[in-house]
Amino acid sequence: MKKILIIGIIVSGIIACNNNQSGNNTNGANNSGQNQQTGNTGNPSYDPNRGEGKFTKVDVSPKLDVAMATSGEKVYSVKCAACHKLTDERLVGPGWKGVTSRHTAEWIMNFTTNTDEMLSKDPKAQAMLEICLVRMPNQNLTDQDARDVYEFMRQNDGVK
Ligand code: HEC
Repeated sequence: MKKILIIGIIVSGIIACNNNQSGNNTNGANNSGQNQQTGNTGNPSYDPNRGEGKFTKVDVSPKLDVAMATSGEKVYSVKCAACHKLTDERLVGPGWKGVTSRHTAEWIMNFTTNTDEMLSKDPKAQAMLEICLVRMPNQNLTDQDARDVYEFMRQNDGVK
């Protein structure tokens, strides 16, 4: 617990330095102040299932792509494991267990490649931000990295 706290403090310190002021609710600046509630009334053009970003339709086979999941695991251990556990326990960010049933593939891949914009627009992402108190930094994933990590999340959620 102590360790987690320390990591949390370090991480939030780093993040606070990177984006001054944007740690608080940035809705006002981005959405002309209308988007106060976290319903989907605030921004009519925003699709909360897909999120915002380059991915509109991700092809996902019912069967696991083992090669992609294996590459995804490598990306996870380098870039995500510091903040995300594979269980349902929160570290800095939410645990990944069940994440593929909480969100669509498009949402997850848009969130992981377009994190800042999603955090400023997406009601679910903002609700997590309120719980975690840390803004997830953009991890500079390639499109393929994002797809691979998604496959790894599916594996973690029991897809075979
Ligand atoms: C510095 C810590 C940190 C790192 C590193 C990090 N995240 Fe996050 N992540 C968060 C936090 C915190 C949240 C919750 C939203 C927020 O507060 O920004 C989150 C939320 C998420 C969510 C939504 C989870 C849910 O349960 O709905 C996904 C998906 C995600 N991250 C993917 C990734 C991926 C993929 C990587 C690695 C490439 C990664 N994250 C690296 C901190 C991090």
